[in-house]
Amino acid sequence: MSTIGIVVGSTRPGRFSIQAAQWLLDFANQRGDAEFVLVDLAEFALPMFDEPASPLYAPVQNPNARAFAARLAELDGFIFATPEYNHSTSAALKNALDYAYAEWNFKPAGFISWGAIAGGARAVEHLRGVLAEVKVYDLREQIVIPNFYLKFDDQGRYGFGEAEERQATPMLDELVFWTEQMASARAVKAGQRELVGAR
Ligand SMILES: Cc1cc2nc3c(=O)[nH]c(=O)nc-3n(C[C@H](O)[C@H](O)[C@H](O)COP(=O)(O)O)c2cc1C
Repeated sequence: MSTIGIVVGSTRPGRFSIQAAQWLLDFANQRGDAEFVLVDLAEFALPMFDEPASPLYAPVQNPNARAFAARLAELDGFIFATPEYNHSTSAALKNALDYAYAEWNFKPAGFISWGAIAGGARAVEHLRGVLAEVKVYDLREQIVIPNFYLKFDDQGRYGFGEAEERQATPMLDELVFWTEQMASARAVKAGQRELVGAR
């Protein structure tokens, strides 16, 4: 069964991203067609990128970054839970994307975003461009939560329900399908690399 990581895209105290990611984790794991796990950037405590080379050319050296890359290598697909900061994704998520290369490659991704009127859609549009460069293949389907703060209860808990589930199901359907398809494509690619190395 495929393993799909839900990347928690902000690290600040009181972040909404953990609520969104946790809800999606629970909803997605009810399906039984893939295993969904959290990849919480706060736990990896990545420094601002300070490697001597791009991970495209050399393995990362920072121990936290090595642990992060090793975690990504275990995953077959991703869902990016991204906030919108000044009409883009978070610096924490962009930094994390910069910290790996091969570990991201040839894997599909869906999205969940939130924000004011645009529901984080502008963050996702920026993110799509970055993902192309690390060969993460983005899905059209996404979950968008506009004006999320209007649906908080007294404890600041968002009321997830049918509106989010109706967006989640088609995204997860596509994501699981492409995750399985790309796993075999990755195996072909890996074989090609071995052949090139043997020449
Ligand atoms: C630096 C900063 C910039 C923000 N810019 C936007 C924005 O451009 N659009 C928007 O809808 N919300 C914006 N917000 C509000 C976020 O949607 C809100 O803080 C949300 O909780 C962020 O997700 P997080 O709690 O997971 O960090 C911004 C918040 C911060 C901290």
